[in-house]
Amino acid sequence: MLVTKQPVLRRFWYAVMPMDRLDAGPQPFTLLGENIVLWKQADGTPAALRDRCCHRTAKLSKGTVGADGHIVCGYHGWTYDCTGACVKIPQQPDMQIPAGARVPAFKAQARFGYAWVCLGEPLVPLLGTPEDDLGWRRIHQFDETWKTGALRLMENSFDSAHFAFVHKGTFGQAGQHKPKHFALDETDYGFEARMVLEINNPPESHQITGTTDPLTTRTFSNQWHLPFLRKLGLGYPSGIQHVIYTCATPIDDERIQIIQWLYRNDSEEDCPAALLNDWDTRVVLEDKVILESVNADAPVDVVRRDEQSMASDRPGMLMRKRLLALLKEHGETEAHRWTRISVIPAKAGIQEV
Ligand code: FES
Ligand code: CO
Repeated sequence: MLVTKQPVLRRFWYAVMPMDRLDAGPQPFTLLGENIVLWKQADGTPAALRDRCCHRTAKLSKGTVGADGHIVCGYHGWTYDCTGACVKIPQQPDMQIPAGARVPAFKAQARFGYAWVCLGEPLVPLLGTPEDDLGWRRIHQFDETWKTGALRLMENSFDSAHFAFVHKGTFGQAGQHKPKHFALDETDYGFEARMVLEINNPPESHQITGTTDPLTTRTFSNQWHLPFLRKLGLGYPSGIQHVIYTCATPIDDERIQIIQWLYRNDSEEDCPAALLNDWDTRVVLEDKVILESVNADAPVDVVRRDEQSMASDRPGMLMRKRLLALLKEHGETEAHRWTRISVIPAKAGIQEV
């Protein structure tokens, strides 16, 4: 699925950058192929416009934020408010501003410490903040660009079959190919996968898990939220709760911005944020190496697919089914550039969901 060619994907909220980056002035971002500029307004809320001045097309992200919280083009100073209307042309202060002097505006809001943008009319509201409400500490983990597809990162996040291979250097147990327990329940937002798995607990992770046992049995409650967000709740036997939010924000058809933050119900004294981030960085970099090697364009139409599957791919297959249904519901067909590489009949050996 080419994400930039599916208009319905513009109707979801995406985390695009940490709010504090906007303290340095207007910042560019590319979301679903759309070049946008974000800035922080006088009241501290983010605003987003197309990153193109309607005077002589300069990028507004090269501009500044004025004292009134409006964005000022860096070329000749035309000034825009959050609706995209030009509110000032400094060279002709006494003349009426032409009605056509405006640029497209997008919905923006701050949540979880990040700026979120929706390029269209939102289909679903932005997630609530239950862990903030409980007073758990929130730790920023990742904000970086990967050369892969958003669906690829999502299905990887629910794929227990890769632990023994990709994560053998951290928590994965060689030879363990199946969880002890696995359940998958569809929900209105996507699905929830629950898994019980025995995993390695090397000395570097003792403080993180709150136990020195070399192996720990962990309960995973993993939610997939359409289209590209997952929330993983990890319960350690010590009673520590470790909740990760991962956003695969689609930049274009080849790249994503991975934005991830973590909640813990313990304190900085119990386990420093730097230690948690060091460990999770090791784990996530193991995924990155593999995910940057796959085709970014993952097919969602499982009938026309060119990939073979196995039983443990069920979560990823369900994502494809739900995404395909979303496209159909909005009158879209899947845009793709993949070509069939297999001559095996599509039904052979495939576990359907
Ligand atoms: Fe923006 Fe001239 S190009 S003010
Ligand atoms: Co992984």
